[in-house]
Formats: sequence, structure tokens, C-alpha cells
Amino acid sequence: MSKKIVVAIDGYSSCGKSTMAKELARTSGYIYVDTGAMYRAVSLYCIENGLMTDTKIDAETLEKQMSDIHISFQTNSSGKTEVFLNGENVESKIRTLIVANGASRVSALGFVRKELVRQQQLMGQQKGIVMDGRDIGTVVFPDAELKLFLTASPEIRAQRRYDEMKAKGENISYEDVLANVIERDDRDVNRAESPLRKADDAIELDNSNITQEEQRNILKTLFEEKLL
Ligand code: DC
Repeated sequence: MSKKIVVAIDGYSSCGKSTMAKELARTSGYIYVDTGAMYRAVSLYCIENGLMTDTKIDAETLEKQMSDIHISFQTNSSGKTEVFLNGENVESKIRTLIVANGASRVSALGFVRKELVRQQQLMGQQKGIVMDGRDIGTVVFPDAELKLFLTASPEIRAQRRYDEMKAKGENISYEDVLANVIERDDRDVNRAESPLRKADDAIELDNSNITQEEQRNILKTLFEEKLL
């Protein structure tokens, strides 16, 4: 059996973590886990069950209902991993700005993080996994063999996100997307529970000015080095 490792990819929102992680998982035959999708699923649950308004989250009820929230991943016929919430495919529902905003709020709650981290650690028990998020290298898998910390300027990330949303036909302005990116960065970095930060042993990669192909090659080299 060839050696299997855990790859942790952390970084700011919309800096291409998932593209990078998915591709590495595909080419290496590893499992890919998008932990942001799990926080988004909890956010969607809160919205659909009236537990979250613009100003408040009913944390007490959410905590009681955490055991009713079942999140899983399934690979569809095109090989794309999709997230399911209590048996429903919510992959497209969770990709809206409202759900993303809610996700950054629910992800500040200690009991939500504790439960999702527990599930993530179970998924990685056998190794052979690429996981992306904000706290993978620091909290979920502090012993991961390969840790990357991705960054890119807020303007570049907002532009990428804006292009993606426009392509999906969403009616949104670049300014709104940029404001949202900045607001989420602020929450991710400044929350008390597992704030976003680079693990001491993570390799930092600023992809503001490199092509996807260059990025892919850097990751491939780093990954192969770890398998030696
Ligand atoms: O990566 P994303 O945009 O899908 O993440 C959604 C939100 O969830 C984001 O605001 C940060 C949070 N998150 C987190 O706190 N920890 C993770 N491991 C993954 C995401």
C-alpha cells in the first residue's frame, strides 16, 4: 500500500482553496472534504428553521437541535462532490451570499465548531484526504503532513467571486461582493473560537498573481515530496 497523508488547505474566503483541493483529490485518488460547505449547511438549516435573523441567532435552540442536523457528502455522476442536509441535496442552495453570511456567523459558535470538527476528524481517520477550510491545519488536523495557507488580495478574491456569480446569472454588484469578502475576512480572523490563522508549519501561498496552472504545479510538487 502506498503511503497516504492528510492535506490541510486553509485560507481566506474565495481564494481558490476548493479548486486546488478538489483537483489534488481527483489526481491523487484522495477524498475531498469542503468544510465550508458544512458550516453553510448549518447556516441553511438555521435560515430554513427560523433560527436566524439579520441580527440574531437562536443559539440555544440550535444547540439543542445540533443532533438533528445530518450533513453528508455524495459524489454525483460527473464526479463532483455535493453536500446533503438531512438527505436533501443542498449544493446549490448553500452557494448564496445570504447563506455564506450566515455561515460566517454560525461558525463563530463554539458548540457548532466542536461538532463539525468532530465529524471532520472522523472523516480523516484513514488519511488519504484533502480538506479545506479555516482551521484544518490548526485545529482539525494539527498533525497533517502537508499544510497550505492560501492568500490573495480582497479585491482579486471579490473579482473572482463576482465573475463566478455573474456567470450563474446572479444579479449582484462588484462592490457588494467586495464588502461581503471584507466582512467575512474580519469575522473569520477576529472570532474568539478558532480564528483563521496560518499554522506555524503551513506553507503560505499568495495566488494573487499566479496562474491556476502554476498553482497546480506547486501543489503537485509539495504533495509528491511528502510521499517520499
Ligand atoms: O469556505 P466557505 O466560504 O464555504 O466557508 C463558509 C464560512 O464557514 C466562512 O465564513 C468561514 C466558515 N468556516 C470556518 O469557520 N471553518 C472552516 N473550517 C470552514 C469554513
